[in-house]
Amino acid sequence: MQALPLGLHHTHMRHPSLARPYAFKQLVAQAAAPYRRCGRFAWRWASGKLAGDTLFHTLVEQQLVPPAAHVLDLGCGQGLLAAWVLTAAEHALLPAPASWRGLDLNPRDIGHAQAAWGAHASFSCANICDTAFGKADLITVMDVLHYLPHAAQTQVLQRIAQALPAGGRLLLRVGDAEAGWAFRWSRWVDQLVILARSGRLCSLYPRSLPAWQQQLHALGFRVRALPRDGQRGFANVLLIADKLA
Ligand SMILES: C[S@@+](CC[C@H](N)C(=O)[O-])C[C@H]1O[C@@H](n2cnc3c(N)ncnc32)[C@H](O)[C@@H]1O
Repeated sequence: MQALPLGLHHTHMRHPSLARPYAFKQLVAQAAAPYRRCGRFAWRWASGKLAGDTLFHTLVEQQLVPPAAHVLDLGCGQGLLAAWVLTAAEHALLPAPASWRGLDLNPRDIGHAQAAWGAHASFSCANICDTAFGKADLITVMDVLHYLPHAAQTQVLQRIAQALPAGGRLLLRVGDAEAGWAFRWSRWVDQLVILARSGRLCSLYPRSLPAWQQQLHALGFRVRALPRDGQRGFANVLLIADKLA
C-alpha cells in the first residue's frame, strides 16, 4: 500500500475499506480536544504529535487494530494512542476496543491521560518492568523499549508473549540502530525531548532492526516491519508481530 504524506496541511486522508477520504485534520482536533483541560502545553503536544507522527494515520490506513480487542498500552505517555483509536472508532474508521489500559512511569503524563480520556480508558502510573500485564489481545509499545537496558527489554518482550493468546497482536515501534544518519537524528531528537520534559539526559539502549525481529521470532511471533517511508527522516520502525499458535 502506498504511504501517504502527512501533515497539518493535509486535511483529508483516504481510508481503503471506506473508499473515501476521511477528515484527518478534524479527527486530530477531536482526539486532542480533551487535553485542553490539562493546560496549553499538553493540548499543543497532543495536537502536534497526532498530526505529525505517521503512526496514527498508518493505524487507520493499514487497519492494524483487531476488532473488540482488550488493549494494553505499555509506556502510554499521555494516552495519545488511546485518544486516536477511541476517536477513530467513534467514526467507524477503526474497530472499537473492548477495553483499554495504559501504563507509564510518568505521573504527570498519567494524570493528563486520566483527565483527558479516563472516562473511556484506564491509566496507571507503573513500571512496565515489574507490573503484571494480565491478559490482552493487543499490546502496544511505541517508542519505549529503548529506555530499558537490554536484559529488561528481553524480559518485557517475554512477558508480552505470555500475556497474548495465539492470534494476539503486538504493535511495537522501535528505533533501528543500523539506520545510519536517520538513527542519529532520531536519537538526538529523543534526547532533546527528554531534556525538555525532565531536565536531564538518560541512557538509551538501541538494537538493530534484525535483532528486534530475531528476538520476536524466537518468542513465537510472525513479524512484519512497515517501511520507514514518510516518517520524516526518523529511524523508527513499526513492527506488527502476530503471536503464532
Ligand atoms: C517517547 S515516550 C512515548 C510515549 C507514548 N508511547 C507515545 O507514543 O506517545 C516514552 C514513554 O515511555 C515511558 N517509560 C519509559 N520507561 C518506562 C518504564 N520502565 N515503565 C513505564 N513507562 C516507561 C516514559 O515515561 C515515556 O512516557
